[in-house]
Amino acid sequence: MTSRIAILPSAVADQIAAGEVVERPASVVKELVENALDAGATSIDIAVEDGGRQLVRVSDDGSGMSRDDAVLALARHATSKIRSAGDLVGVRSFGFRGEALPAICSVSQLEIETALGDGAGTVVRAAAGAVADVADTARRRGTTVGVGRLFFNAPARRKFLRGARSEWRSIVESVTSLALVRRDVRFTLSHDGKQVFAVPGAVSLRERIAAIHGSAAAARLVDVDDVAGSIHIAGQVERPSEVGTAGRRIHLAINGRAVRDAGIVRAAEAAYRSTIPAGVRPTLYLELTVAANDVDVNVHPAKAEVRFRDRWHVERVVEMAVRRALGTMESGATLGRVLWPAPAPFTSPMVDVEVLRPRAELDDGIFAESQIGDAAEPAGAQQTAPEIDVPPLLQLRRTYMMFERDDGVVLIDQHSAHERVLFERFMRALECGETPAQRLLFPLTLHLGPAEGDAFDAHRELFERLGFEVEGFGGHTLIVRSVPMPHARFDAERCLRETLASLTGDRDASAAPKHQRLAATVACKAAIKAGDTMSPAEMRALFAALASTQLPAHDVHGRSTVVHLSWDELERRFGRR
Ligand SMILES: Nc1ncnc2c1ncn2[C@@H]1O[C@H](COP(=O)(O)OP(=O)(O)OP(=O)(O)O)[C@@H](O)[C@H]1O
Ligand SMILES: [Mg+2]
Repeated sequence: MTSRIAILPSAVADQIAAGEVVERPASVVKELVENALDAGATSIDIAVEDGGRQLVRVSDDGSGMSRDDAVLALARHATSKIRSAGDLVGVRSFGFRGEALPAICSVSQLEIETALGDGAGTVVRAAAGAVADVADTARRRGTTVGVGRLFFNAPARRKFLRGARSEWRSIVESVTSLALVRRDVRFTLSHDGKQVFAVPGAVSLRERIAAIHGSAAAARLVDVDDVAGSIHIAGQVERPSEVGTAGRRIHLAINGRAVRDAGIVRAAEAAYRSTIPAGVRPTLYLELTVAANDVDVNVHPAKAEVRFRDRWHVERVVEMAVRRALGTMESGATLGRVLWPAPAPFTSPMVDVEVLRPRAELDDGIFAESQIGDAAEPAGAQQTAPEIDVPPLLQLRRTYMMFERDDGVVLIDQHSAHERVLFERFMRALECGETPAQRLLFPLTLHLGPAEGDAFDAHRELFERLGFEVEGFGGHTLIVRSVPMPHARFDAERCLRETLASLTGDRDASAAPKHQRLAATVACKAAIKAGDTMSPAEMRALFAALASTQLPAHDVHGRSTVVHLSWDELERRFGRR
């Protein structure tokens, strides 16, 4: 009996492999440019015709190849980059499989022109995986690989190519991501004879972003730079106030390799929570460096994804780094020459304030911390960091607090600022602990409509964690025995009613988790309002509390809490300069 299993001829095997490595012209560009980078090129010219469907040509000034190597390069599993499986751990070159050139060659007409030094070189021509011709040529050191008529011998694959414009866009994306990673290298890119892209080598990420996407795009970004254990994360992310106002871009590199990673993007986005409206997503350029054995780069045919040993940890580090970048964004530059203290760990000043104290006693403190500090503990234990240097503050229009500093005047929106303070406090309460509550001398009775009643039931446990002690009383009547104490003039009944009303109209089917939405809503309803007069002590307390938040410059909707007017700007307006 003849065997039904046969080893495929290698040309067929290569075509099958090509399906994984070579999806479209952009993947050819990527593989050729990566080879050029691996060969130590400092300058790479990419020329494309008809969206890469007719021709992709990549020229480099790298090491070049000998005649033998140029022929061998087209053989399957021929690589100069690793010698054994052990070399795979921590492999620093882009390539290591020895698969790209044979795969591309199996579905195109390919020409390699290469020289080890200036002068004598080799040209190898091949088509559909078979070498047709090897000859001498004269050229400078380096290599040029031309890939013509991609999929000419695989009509089924060729049918799947999109129009030239669409293929071209993918090519631009591929080149962009390589050019962002390898900023030391000069790149040019041209389409049908027209140069569309030329970036010089040796620049910072920000400069490279400006060179590729324009300086306006670069100006929208803040720096991320953080080290956590063996992980280093650096890059640029969009300012919350800019998010959603222009197209979004994502660039992610891990150990110098551009990759896709939805988990890391999600972690970075999570850092924006409460600073930008739901549904809009920030532009991110992030580069991670991790220990070689904490990441496996050999899990995807085009090496476009990686696997982490401890993904959860990496994602937390990314989230913290981005959050810190956003939080310190205006550090020292926004609220006076104060050093923002690191956010205090939540040390619950859990005090059972059993009685509602008379108003007169509370006049000095709009904020729970200061009250609690007075009531229960000697000074120093408050959450409001005492080292904050609070400048003299002036209330304007019962809406803004104003102060001056060396470089101009700063206005703080009192409601937004208080909302930010309360939001972070409520989030801590919901996520890790108790919130100070006050027991009401006379319990409140609330009659709710059915929708509000349902909203309460759906959030009951969260309300309790926020400090609302509530008993159901049949139907939709609630007895409220204690309430959180965000400030002295807090109107618990109104806050609860408004919160429930807005939860019933909760169209916000955003990604924000339920407890976060509740914290934001209660913070909004509980915060002091525009129009509330604030005493100097209250303003000082609010300033200090805001300075201790993680994101002082933004309210929970992503709007600014702080506006800065520089002396320069004022002098310009007054015609002094
Ligand atoms: N532009 C170039 N300059 C110098 N040598 C090159 C160039 N392109 C390819 N080579 C040589 O040809 C070999 C085969 O290239 P190929 O891309 O097929 O495999 P690889 O880069 O080793 O691995 P991978 O399949 O993961 O990309 C490389 O290992 C390298 O030695
Ligand atoms: Mg390669």
